[in-house]
Amino acid sequence: MSYQVFAVLTFCSTLFCANSFAVEAKKPVEQAAELAIIPQPAQQQWGQGSFSLSAKTRLYASDAAALSNANLFNDRLEQTLGFRLAVLAGLPGKADSNYLLLKTEAPVQGQKNQDEAYALSINPHAIALTGSAAGQFYGMQSLLQMLPARASQLAHLRSVNVQDTPRFSWRGMHLDVGRHMVSVEFIKKFLDQMAFYKMNTFHWHLTEDQGWRIEIKAYPKLTEVGAWRKESTLGRHVEPYIGDGKAYGGFYTQEQIREVVAYAAARHITVVPEIELPGHAQAALAAYPELACTPGPFEVATNWGIFEDIYCPSEATFGFLEKVLSEVMALFPGQYLHIGGDEVPKARWKNSALAQDVMRREGLKNEEELQSWFIRRIEKFINSKGKRLIGWDEILEGGLAPDATVMSWRGEEGGIAAARQGHDVIMSPTSHCYFDAGQGPKEQESWQLGGELSLEKVYTYNPVPGILNGQEQSHIKGVQANIWTEYLSKPEMIEYMVYPRLLAMAEVAWTAPEKKEYSGFEQRLVTHYPRLQQAGLAYRIPRPIGLPAQVNATDKTHTLNLHAPVAGSKMYYTVDGAAPGTSSPQYLRPLVITVKPGQDSLVQVLTVTPDGRHGAIQRSVIHGVGAVQK
Ligand code: ACM
Repeated sequence: MSYQVFAVLTFCSTLFCANSFAVEAKKPVEQAAELAIIPQPAQQQWGQGSFSLSAKTRLYASDAAALSNANLFNDRLEQTLGFRLAVLAGLPGKADSNYLLLKTEAPVQGQKNQDEAYALSINPHAIALTGSAAGQFYGMQSLLQMLPARASQLAHLRSVNVQDTPRFSWRGMHLDVGRHMVSVEFIKKFLDQMAFYKMNTFHWHLTEDQGWRIEIKAYPKLTEVGAWRKESTLGRHVEPYIGDGKAYGGFYTQEQIREVVAYAAARHITVVPEIELPGHAQAALAAYPELACTPGPFEVATNWGIFEDIYCPSEATFGFLEKVLSEVMALFPGQYLHIGGDEVPKARWKNSALAQDVMRREGLKNEEELQSWFIRRIEKFINSKGKRLIGWDEILEGGLAPDATVMSWRGEEGGIAAARQGHDVIMSPTSHCYFDAGQGPKEQESWQLGGELSLEKVYTYNPVPGILNGQEQSHIKGVQANIWTEYLSKPEMIEYMVYPRLLAMAEVAWTAPEKKEYSGFEQRLVTHYPRLQQAGLAYRIPRPIGLPAQVNATDKTHTLNLHAPVAGSKMYYTVDGAAPGTSSPQYLRPLVITVKPGQDSLVQVLTVTPDGRHGAIQRSVIHGVGAVQK
């Protein structure tokens, strides 16, 4: 079976078959083997017959929580299919049919992550979705993924029972708004996608050397001064530095922060704010230089990097931070406050009489212990307000604060050490979780920060290190992808880096390892590109399927059998080294390349999606090795 025919069947396997696909499909819909849900659910069993969802279907909501979910379901339905369902409070009668029931049920106790579990049952008469408010919401996302991506009067949903529970309780996505900020509308769109793929934690990196982005009423200069830099680094000119000469800045008001937090909460996403300390604080010091160990003045950083001017461990600093964190904690109802703790040069503390006095007073051997003391003191304050501290893995240095959770980014070692000490851990190593790395070879990418992190590498990540014992493993609470924005100055650049890798990370975070399989994920992904497109996201257009980066050709000719990864796309190619464009030959049939003995042939392909977006040009090098050996 060709990939294209398979793709058609996969569309049908979403339990809906648009008429045109039904006509094209070689086999009946019922032969499709699995749902195209991302992340892959824990269990599913097919039943007999199908349910027809239309504008006549009624939506019962068992209680207020179900009602909130019902409204969100209708919003999404309207955006995609173009109609809403009539909502009724309460439960259907025995003789009722043609309804969707959202029913809130208390989670089963004693099993892992049951508070986010759901059961979805579709039969020819009705759809029932049960779970806690959050579980029900996740079931709703699965149901929405079974519906067509575009306007349609009627959707046939094949009978099925799905039972589902997440693997991890922290399914995170981070966003750095310090280097480049985005609008509230962008963040809402970002949260919509996180929710659609069952991610539940938005880590909002709000303060940086290059900009303080959250309004703090007690310290207005943080945003009057700290939110604005006189220019930014021009391109990659970090060393030696060249600036772009353009002022840059902005911040979120407390009202906007509340708006984002409420929007996220309705979608069962917790927002974790990050307020960096004691380093990455130059923007704060530009506003309040008296918090530094040297007199200043300081300016909001314009270059990217790690800066030596950090908070001095003075009583003025603690007074400031306690007031700032109090305002922050009042805005974010979640359990956690992220305090950064990463990349803290110690030079200023080494040369500061005040810092050295604190070390003597507290019996601290070195500046690492001083940092640990600093963070313990902050933790005590946070705990006294009923919140928990999380920080990057540098917070291990000099000793962990008693209840700290560690976000392991410089590899897994920090996470392993923390779990062995009985601390909770979120795995977020650069190797698999840093979405600012390119998604393919550098020369084929539209933009990237450095390094390479393919969709497949993200997908294959297992956040639980095998060298930990069972008890230690239970401290790995989750996994998170991070996106740093030094080189992502436009919102569409961020979207390019996030999608589709977010979908792979969602499956890492939700799906049990025994249910994960990359080729199956790739096939399900085919049905998700139209959804990303419909949501207006500048996702990375993947390589054509069947186009290897390089291949050793063993015959006189080599045939490339390509398939567009996004349905309805056109592919244009060249074989003469020139960059392909829309006036180059269009790929319509398998491409037969003449293999030159001992030489390389370059095939370059441009994909243009149905909405007119151009993918990065993808190359394939065909080495004529076989011909030489003969
Ligand atoms: C980090 O990437 N500096 C946590």
